[in-house]
Amino acid sequence: MSIFGLKPNLENQFMFTRKQSFKTALCCLLILGCASITQAQRKEYLLQKGWKFTKGDQQNAQSSDYNDNAWQPVTVPHDWAIYGPFGSSIDQQKVQVVQNGEKEASVKSGRTGGLPFIGTGWYRLKFRAPEFSEGKNASIVFDGAMSHAQVYVNGQEVGAWPYGYDSFHFDITKYLKPGAENTLAVRLENFPESSRWYPGAGLYRNVHLIIAENAHIPVWGTYVTTPVIEKEFAKVHIKTNVEFISDKYQPLKLVTLIKDAQGKQVSETSSDLTPTDQNAFDQNLVVSKPELWSPETPVLYTAVSKLYQNGKQVDEYTTRFGFRTIAVEPGKGFILNGQVRKFKGVCNHHDLGPLGAAINKAALRRQITLLKDMGCDAIRTSHNMPAPELVELCDEMGIMLMVEAFDEWKTPKVKNGYSKLFDEWAEKDVVNMIHRDRNHPSVIMWSIGNEVPDQSAKGGNKIAKWLTSICHREDPTRPVTAGMDRIDAAINNNFASVLDIPGFNYKPARYEEADGKLPQGFILGSETASTVSSRGVYKFPAEPVKQKMYDDNQSSSYDVEYCTWSTLPDDEFAKQDDLKYVIGEFVWTGFDYLGEPTPYDSKWPSHSSYFGIIDLAGIPKDRFYLYRSRWNTNSPTLHILPHWTWPGREGQVTPVYVYTSYPSAELFVNGKSMGKQSKNPADRLGRYRLMWNDVKYQPGSIKVVAYDANGKAVADQTVKTAGKPNHVELTVDRKQIDADGKDLAYVTARVCDAAGNTCPDATNLLEFKVTGAGHFRAIANGDATNTQSFQQPQMNAFSGMLVGTVESGEGAGKIQVSVSGKGLKAGVIGIDAK
Ligand code: GAL
Repeated sequence: MSIFGLKPNLENQFMFTRKQSFKTALCCLLILGCASITQAQRKEYLLQKGWKFTKGDQQNAQSSDYNDNAWQPVTVPHDWAIYGPFGSSIDQQKVQVVQNGEKEASVKSGRTGGLPFIGTGWYRLKFRAPEFSEGKNASIVFDGAMSHAQVYVNGQEVGAWPYGYDSFHFDITKYLKPGAENTLAVRLENFPESSRWYPGAGLYRNVHLIIAENAHIPVWGTYVTTPVIEKEFAKVHIKTNVEFISDKYQPLKLVTLIKDAQGKQVSETSSDLTPTDQNAFDQNLVVSKPELWSPETPVLYTAVSKLYQNGKQVDEYTTRFGFRTIAVEPGKGFILNGQVRKFKGVCNHHDLGPLGAAINKAALRRQITLLKDMGCDAIRTSHNMPAPELVELCDEMGIMLMVEAFDEWKTPKVKNGYSKLFDEWAEKDVVNMIHRDRNHPSVIMWSIGNEVPDQSAKGGNKIAKWLTSICHREDPTRPVTAGMDRIDAAINNNFASVLDIPGFNYKPARYEEADGKLPQGFILGSETASTVSSRGVYKFPAEPVKQKMYDDNQSSSYDVEYCTWSTLPDDEFAKQDDLKYVIGEFVWTGFDYLGEPTPYDSKWPSHSSYFGIIDLAGIPKDRFYLYRSRWNTNSPTLHILPHWTWPGREGQVTPVYVYTSYPSAELFVNGKSMGKQSKNPADRLGRYRLMWNDVKYQPGSIKVVAYDANGKAVADQTVKTAGKPNHVELTVDRKQIDADGKDLAYVTARVCDAAGNTCPDATNLLEFKVTGAGHFRAIANGDATNTQSFQQPQMNAFSGMLVGTVESGEGAGKIQVSVSGKGLKAGVIGIDAK
């Protein structure tokens, strides 16, 4: 089944068949306390501590003797804009969003989050690199810098990289001073009207300094593929680049070992560099009985590359990889390890809610943990390259990734967006994206763009072909896709046919018709739903409605509100279930994000999205359980909505919905049966939800009893009318965190009545106090209209809840968290930092 298994001579080639044709596609050095990774002669430093930062442009700030005493000390990753304050006039954009079907331009206030990301910022770091000496090599790697980075070492410009989402690196050997203090300075600049969402600002991802011997394996210097995977054995091909400064051929030798998930060596090979090898080793290894990587079994292997010069080891480089096959076939769709499967995916932006764009591995791990519980198996990194930490976690935790490059090509969506960079930078950006991430088993396809207006522009199909061929050239093992919204144009002008996987955004109604016109024989829902809702807010009547707005700038959590261009989850589900050739979906979005507050794009103070299945604080909305009931096939789902505290609604119709994986259920209101409901394939919503639309509200309780296929009662859930706010109840996602100064615990605070029921309307101001071996880091309540600071330890609850983020210090010990509110008994919880 796997193309790899079929034709060993076509190793490294991702292949796919089309309907009519068979086609081959193609320190502590530096600063005390900084983290370092040592492998033989290589030393890698994570440059996190000791930075100085200032906002605004500065003359001569790159020079070594510039006085930065007055600058702010910061730790990188750092997002200078997330500290606020919010402002309705920040980056106001008067635009007509054509892709949303808008007929005229309107002023959009919170489009990029209403946070101060625009302008220039400078970062400076003084460091010593004791391992660096004459004859050694030094490189600096930026995982991402927002944006238009200009990098200086000891006053000299070493390079620039404008696209804020891509990783880049420079050789700084000739700029670095051995045995002396060095100065690294970075100038960044963000322009107004350069984004459609909150981009963040600054050195928001990690910066690495790597010191190696003259002869070394360069940054992203290995490319591991697995051209043959059989039950009994697999072939591993590793291309390893080497770099050195010398006019002469160097007699280098490379020993490569492969270790399994337990660290046991399972293969080894060794080869000598010959003068015709062009500074790259090509090695083939065999691993017997390979364990396959999949979202359900994320097994990882490691290749350890040891470089020798004149018998002495000069470098050691490790690469994590996995064994898995991917293929796409007409009529079948996407095939992982020989099994056809449909993507249960979400699109996510890069921000981490109240942390802004500043990357944090614990925050990403929590996101993935929540998504996996929902049964999600894939993420689309919309609409840009992800942080490397996300890719590593997806490898480890089992999530398939669509890594996306761009939201714009040549034709702009925003005045100062990527279209300004495209001609000069697109190829370099795609090459870096692929070189950094092509060894990761989690990455199963590349996306060259999202809804690029070039779909319908002259020459757009040629750009699609060009970008696709760059991806195939750099990585022939993965298919290429793009998210298309202008499908008529894209089908007619061959834009769509250039792609290995045609991705449709919001077009379930067109799948059948389009299938007949596309050569691939399958279609991906590359972006779906865009249903809007606010956690815990319910509007009446509960009826499907488009572009609905209310005075409170909230959307209904009955999950029936959507946009002119979008759909309800149920509409996509039906097509996914009915059409074999539709290969899954990526829902817009897994998490709420900063910016794009549709449908309130022009109604400040809305400044974050309503699209998320999970809110900005990381609390699941009701919709989470609708997706869970369908996607999580390991653990049953039973979820009842709305809340049952409606003073003033007595006697009024208040529908009750149940999201469940069970086929039927019975509702009881104050003990009285409202009848049994079963899923009804003929009904738009009833096919996936159980609904009691005529229930009249009376205080008390609602209880749902679920029945299995044999009619046996197997589960129940009750929601009671809450009394007055009485106390704060705390829960934490992890009771034990690492004492590394970076790990995070998320403490959810709930305003409860005396009996422990959540008070669903509570908006009490809650204050966090964190003592002991950790500190308060950030706070969020998931309300898209809330302009309270994410960085102050107090905030009003939204729908009775909020979440505080606690960060460990560097010493082990107990962390105590107490959350208080006026007139409420405080909640207290302990966390261990180890
Ligand atoms: C899509 C777009 C996304 C987001 C979404 C909102 O058209 O690709 O980036 O804007 O609409 O529904």
